[in-house]
Amino acid sequence: MRYRLLSALIASAVVAVDAAPAASYDYIVVGSGPGGGPLACDLARAGYSTLLIEAGGDEGDNPTYAELATFNEAANDEATRWDFWVKHSDDPARELQFQHMTWDTGDGTFYIGLDPPPGAKQLGIQYPRAAVLGGCAMHNGAVCTLPQDDDWNVIVNATGDTSWEADKMRRYLKKIEKNDYLPAGNADHGYNGWLSTSRGDVSWAKNNSLAGTRILRKMAELTGQNPEDVGVLMDTDILGAYKNKDEISSFYNMVQHADRQGKRSSPNNYVRATLADPKKYPLTLQLHTLVTKVLFSNESTPRAIGVEVMQGASLYKADPKHIPGTKAPLTQILANKEVIVSGGAFNSPQILKLSGIGPAAELQKFNIPVVKDLPGVGEQLSDNYEGSILALGQIPADSGLITLQFRTPSAPTKKRNIFTWCGAFSFEGFWPGFPADYGPNQYTCAMVHISPKSQAGSVRLVSADPQDVPDINFRFFEHRGDEDLKEIVEGANLLREAWQAAGEPVLPFNELHPCHGTNPLADGKCSDAVQAQSFKTQAYSHHAASTCAIGGDNDKMAVLDSKFRVRGVKGLRVVDASSFPVVPGAFPVLPTMMISAKAAEDIIADATKKSG
Ligand SMILES: Cc1cc2nc3c(=O)[nH]c(=O)nc-3n(C[C@H](O)[C@H](O)[C@H](O)COP(=O)(O)OP(=O)(O)OC[C@H]3O[C@@H](n4cnc5c(N)ncnc54)[C@H](O)[C@@H]3O)c2cc1C
Ligand SMILES: *[C@@H]1O[C@H](CO)[C@@H](O)[C@H](O)[C@H]1NC(C)=O
Ligand SMILES: *[C@@H]1O[C@H](CO)[C@@H](O)[C@H](O)[C@H]1NC(C)=O
Ligand SMILES: *[C@@H]1O[C@H](CO)[C@@H](O)[C@H](O)[C@H]1NC(C)=O
Repeated sequence: MRYRLLSALIASAVVAVDAAPAASYDYIVVGSGPGGGPLACDLARAGYSTLLIEAGGDEGDNPTYAELATFNEAANDEATRWDFWVKHSDDPARELQFQHMTWDTGDGTFYIGLDPPPGAKQLGIQYPRAAVLGGCAMHNGAVCTLPQDDDWNVIVNATGDTSWEADKMRRYLKKIEKNDYLPAGNADHGYNGWLSTSRGDVSWAKNNSLAGTRILRKMAELTGQNPEDVGVLMDTDILGAYKNKDEISSFYNMVQHADRQGKRSSPNNYVRATLADPKKYPLTLQLHTLVTKVLFSNESTPRAIGVEVMQGASLYKADPKHIPGTKAPLTQILANKEVIVSGGAFNSPQILKLSGIGPAAELQKFNIPVVKDLPGVGEQLSDNYEGSILALGQIPADSGLITLQFRTPSAPTKKRNIFTWCGAFSFEGFWPGFPADYGPNQYTCAMVHISPKSQAGSVRLVSADPQDVPDINFRFFEHRGDEDLKEIVEGANLLREAWQAAGEPVLPFNELHPCHGTNPLADGKCSDAVQAQSFKTQAYSHHAASTCAIGGDNDKMAVLDSKFRVRGVKGLRVVDASSFPVVPGAFPVLPTMMISAKAAEDIIADATKKSG
C-alpha cells in the first residue's frame, strides 16, 4: 500500500507528458546508467532538447549511495534493487549445485543454499542491477580499468571503422575524467571531465613486517616482478598508457570512480550538474517511468519516432517492491530526431524485442509484430567469469588491498588473463544479503577472468508484457569452457602458493573454497580437476555484455553498426554494455562511460550533417 501511494505522488511530480499535444524532444534516451546518463547530458549540452527516462528514482543524496564505502549495502538496498534470477546453464542438476541458489519460501523470505525447505519455489541465481538515476554505477564497486586494446580493435576489424582503434579511444577517458589522484598535466589523463577518479593508500606495502607484504613479495616472484620493488609497483597507474599494456603482469593501485574523500562519482552527479547548470541546458529528466517500447513510423525503412511509457514506481517485476497486478496507463512521447536505448545488457534487448526488433520466430511466438528481424538481439550474452579463493588465517592477515593482473601459463595469447584483488574481506558472488562475514581472519583473492571464450548466453522474452522479466541464461563455459577453467585454476594455484608466504602465526590458512582445510593439497584432494569442477559450478559474474552487439555488415548476429545504429531501422541506437561485441577487459563500467561519450559525438555529428 505504501508503495502505491508513493508512486502516485511521484507521478504527479514529474513532467506531464500525457497531456495533448504530446510533448516532444529532439532525443529520447532510455536509461540513465553509464551508457545513457552521460550521453543525455552531452546531447543537452550541445543544445538539443533531450528527455532522459529512468525507471528508478534519484538516490544521489542518500549516503548509502553517495559514499562508496557502503557499496555492498547499496547493492542489497530494496530502494533501487532489481533482482534478476538468472541461470548459468541449461542443466538443472548443475544449477542445483550452486551454493547460493535462491528460493522463495512463500512466507516472504528467501532460502539460500542447497537444501531448500519443502514447497519452496526455485528462483535462480541473483544478479543484482540498480534501477536508479546513474544505473549500476550507483551500487557497484566502482573499479575502473581500461579494456584490452584488442577489445576495441576487434570493432575496427569487424566494421572497418578506424575511430575505434585502441590508441584513439583514450581520448574519451581524457574527456570524461576528473583525475583526483595524479598531479595535473599527466598526458594519459583528463582533469576537466565529470567523472572523478581516485585511488587507495598503498603505503602499507612498504612495511616488510606485515603478512600482506610477505604475500605480496611472493606474488611478485611468481609473476616475474622484483619482490624488492613491491612498495613502488603497488602504486602503478592502472589507467596508464604503457606500451603493450595488456601483456604486462603487474601490481596496480586500484582506481575507483569516486573522489579523494570517498564520495561516489557517477552519471547521477553528471545529470544533476547538467540540470542545475545556470546555462539551462535543455535536459528533461523523467524518473519512475518504465519504457515499454519504441514507436516506429510506417515507412519502408521504419523510423523510431518515440517511446511508449508507463509512469509509476516499481512497475517492473524485478523490483522487490513491485505489487502484483500494479499497472499504469500507457502514454506516448515523441522524438524529432532519435531514440537511444540504454537500459543495460538485460533491458535493452528486452525493449528492442517488445518493439518488434529481434529474432522473428521469438517475436511471433508472443504476437509481437516484426518491425525488423534481427537474430542477434538478446543473444551472444557473455560475462567475465569470476571465482574466489577464500580462507581463514589463524589470526588476521595484516594487509591492505592487493590489486594484481597476471598471465597464467595456458593463456592462449601473450595477454594477461586474470585480474585479482586480495585482502581481509570475503567476496563469493551475489545472493540476497551478500557477502558472508567469516570474521576478522577471513582472507580472499577474488578473480575476474578476462576474455571468456564463450558467448552462448541469451536474454529471451517470456511474454509480450513489458513488466515481465525476461529469461536470462548465461550458459557459462559452453564453448572452450575447459580452457577457461584451466586458466582460472592456474590463477588459484598461484595465489594459494603466494599465501603460504604469510608466515606464522597467520598460517596455516584454513581454506573454505575451492579446496578445503589447512593442508588443502594433501593426498590429491585438491587436484586441478577438483578445482575446475568447483569453479564451474560456483562461478559468478556481474559484467553482462554483448546482447545488442556492434558487428560487421556480413555478420548476421550484428545488431548495431559501428555508430551504434540499430541495423535495418532509422533513428534508433543502443548505447550501453550490450553494445560491446566482446566483454571489455576485466571491468565494464569505465569502457561503457567511454562509449557513451563516443556515441554522443557520433549522434551530434549526424545531426550537424543533416541540418547543415
Ligand atoms: C553489484 C555490482 C557491482 C559492480 N561492480 C563493478 C565494478 O566495480 N567495476 C565495473 O567496471 N563494473 C562493475 N559492475 C558492472 C557495471 O556497473 C555495469 O556494467 C554498468 O553499470 C553497465 O552500464 P549500463 O549503462 O549498460 O547499464 P545499467 O547500469 O544497468 O543502467 C541501465 C539503466 O536503465 C534503466 N532502465 C532499464 N530498463 C528500463 C526501462 N524499460 N525504462 C526505463 N529505464 C530503464 C535502469 O533502471 C538503469 O538505471 C558492477 C555491477 C554490479 C551489479
Ligand atoms: C585484426 O585483423 C588483423 C589483420 O587480419 C589481425 O592481425 C589482428 O589480430 C586482428 N585484431 C583483432 C583484435 O581481431
Ligand atoms: C609495520 O607494521 C607493523 C605491524 O603492524 C607495525 O607495528 C609498524 O609500526 C609498521 N611500520 C610502519 C613504518 O608503518
Ligand atoms: C503500414 O503501411 C502498410 C502498407 O504500406 C499498411 O498495409 C499498414 O496497414 C500500415 N500500418 C499502419 C499501422 O499504419
